[in-house]
Amino acid sequence: MATDETTSKEQTGSISSVLSEKRKFPPSAEFSKNAHITSMEEYEKLYAAAAADPDKYWGDLAEKFHWFKKWDSVLDWAPPYAKWFSGGKTNICYNAVDVHAKSWRKNKAAIIWEGEEGPQRVLTYGELHRQVSKFANVLKIAGIRPGDRVAIYMGMVPELIIAVLACARVGAVHNVIFAGFSAHAISERVNDSRAKMVICADGTRRRGGSINLKNIVDEAIVNTPSVRSVIVLKVTGEKVHMHDGMDHWWHDLMGLAMDECEPAEVDAEHPLFVLYTSGSTGKPKGILHTTAGYMVHAANSFKYVFDIKDEDIYFCTADVGWITGHSYMAYGPLLNGATILMYEGAPNYPQWDRFWDIINRHKVTILYTAPTAIRAFIRAGNEWVTKHNLDSLRLLGTVGEPINPEAWMWYHRIVGQERCPIVDTWWQTETGGIMVSPLPGATPTKPGTATRPLPGIMVDVVRKNGDPCEANEGGYLVIKKPWPSMLRTIYGDNARYEKTYWSEFKDMYFTGDGARKDEDGYIWIMGRVDDVVNVSGHRLGTSEVESALVSYEAVAEAAVVSRPDDIKGNALVAFVTLKDEYVGDMNLREALRNHVAKEIGPIAKPDEIRWAKGLPKTRSGKIMRRLLRELATSNEVKGDVTTLEDFGVLENLRDQEDD
Ligand code: WTA
Repeated sequence: MATDETTSKEQTGSISSVLSEKRKFPPSAEFSKNAHITSMEEYEKLYAAAAADPDKYWGDLAEKFHWFKKWDSVLDWAPPYAKWFSGGKTNICYNAVDVHAKSWRKNKAAIIWEGEEGPQRVLTYGELHRQVSKFANVLKIAGIRPGDRVAIYMGMVPELIIAVLACARVGAVHNVIFAGFSAHAISERVNDSRAKMVICADGTRRRGGSINLKNIVDEAIVNTPSVRSVIVLKVTGEKVHMHDGMDHWWHDLMGLAMDECEPAEVDAEHPLFVLYTSGSTGKPKGILHTTAGYMVHAANSFKYVFDIKDEDIYFCTADVGWITGHSYMAYGPLLNGATILMYEGAPNYPQWDRFWDIINRHKVTILYTAPTAIRAFIRAGNEWVTKHNLDSLRLLGTVGEPINPEAWMWYHRIVGQERCPIVDTWWQTETGGIMVSPLPGATPTKPGTATRPLPGIMVDVVRKNGDPCEANEGGYLVIKKPWPSMLRTIYGDNARYEKTYWSEFKDMYFTGDGARKDEDGYIWIMGRVDDVVNVSGHRLGTSEVESALVSYEAVAEAAVVSRPDDIKGNALVAFVTLKDEYVGDMNLREALRNHVAKEIGPIAKPDEIRWAKGLPKTRSGKIMRRLLRELATSNEVKGDVTTLEDFGVLENLRDQEDD
């Protein structure tokens, strides 16, 4: 390799980008004609106006909500601490529910729920208003005051959204804990946020069985002195132990509560929720979001990215336990008066066609899911999808990880029938809402890129010293201006907030992601910078090598990591999951190595390929490359595995004898 190039790369701290994807898909004339934003010219104009006068841009958007008192200033910025809409008073629950319940939408479906075993429930905006108001009264009677933290640990049932909204209504701070987490993880989160109450269910259904959530809560709250009471919703009817004085049934309390409750008039910066996200080391970070700024961006980004119309039925497959569930399952859609399809269970229950069956039966128009699910569907086979009529779909979305171009093409062809635009949305728990995404009626898409930032969002790709990268030069993804739904801090730990996000680059928020901007200004995410591998002096984003592997017919999913190598510095190890009908052998290994050499270049050829029945993932579906790195290096895993979803997969990934 040319040493000059290597040295200069190390100096600027850039990352080599090797993936070249040239396909481009403009929206159809018909889609554009009916969209909220109809052309790139319109987008460019909006973007330029927002960049020139951000206060006016965000201020105008905020005008659309109900305020008990208008704000004095749009933004007070004392880096890295922001206050949005200071002096204003509002309530996000009022804007998400009451506004619609008082309008013609009173009898419109807010939530269409389908249980795993098939039962259906429909909550109109009027009914949602009644339930939320009642439960808000329950919270008040239980002594919950504005600012108190309330932990919520439930499966995907409408009451989960009711509990979240009721907290917001009384000014309490919700802390939703994904129902797959252990007792230890609950105690850690409840203690860090010093929650006064836990709302849970007796159990949750999973693939025909059930998990007793109440038992897990019982185990957790032995170690949580701040908790005064537990409210238990009956979902599965399983046996639970109710502790006198501490535990109360949801239905008993609701039976006593009045169904009218004035919303609390909270300050714009009143804390709305804490949501924990795993740190790469140490304890989870409690990401704190506040009321008005979050409301403005969650609602507005939802409207434009999903091009939402009153007729739409919007199906988001994320759990409310994740930020996607907060912003685009609950708040974003409800603030727009949209109809949400909420599904309780697993995508492969009773069979691999559950999502497609739901889409067909409910005539879903918009589907928002994750690359990990898409890759699982590819592996299971096209026939599960194609046997259902998906003509109702008009728009598809993805979030959570880089989507490999071949997985994008599959989503486009098999699910979208080459008719539906795909919005690949880049954002984070910390950003609160979508930052980079196509606007479906305007932006020509390319498989594998989240395209351009939304108006008002100033993202850039920079070198280690903070200088902007050139087109197609890989670097670090940063955000250069505050935005309304940004995290305000890490709960109780300002020092960690400053260090994690604001110390790497001067006056810029560091996302932790590697990326490049192409000649059209499109952002290509190359994965977390911790996942960058250095081979013979070239720093490669693992996601690009993975995408090359996934573009081979037999491959469903791949994860690439490096291990130290005496000669090359680092060697590449690929963990590959094949589609169900293929078997891994020596010939396929060689074919794959050659395929990567052809797609990217010999430098990216994996030195070792291990067949994987499954890959280790977090509970939200992200591949845990850190564990694979340990496996590839020492053949054992010693690091923290508490966020790992399925422990069995690690066993299968140790050294493999040749086939
Ligand atoms: C990754 C999820 C590529 C990224 C909303 C980010 C993505 C992290 C995309 C945040 C995307 C999310 N393309 N990568 N469209 N969306 N990511 O906090 O690495 O669970 O930093 O928020 O997921 O994950 P989080």
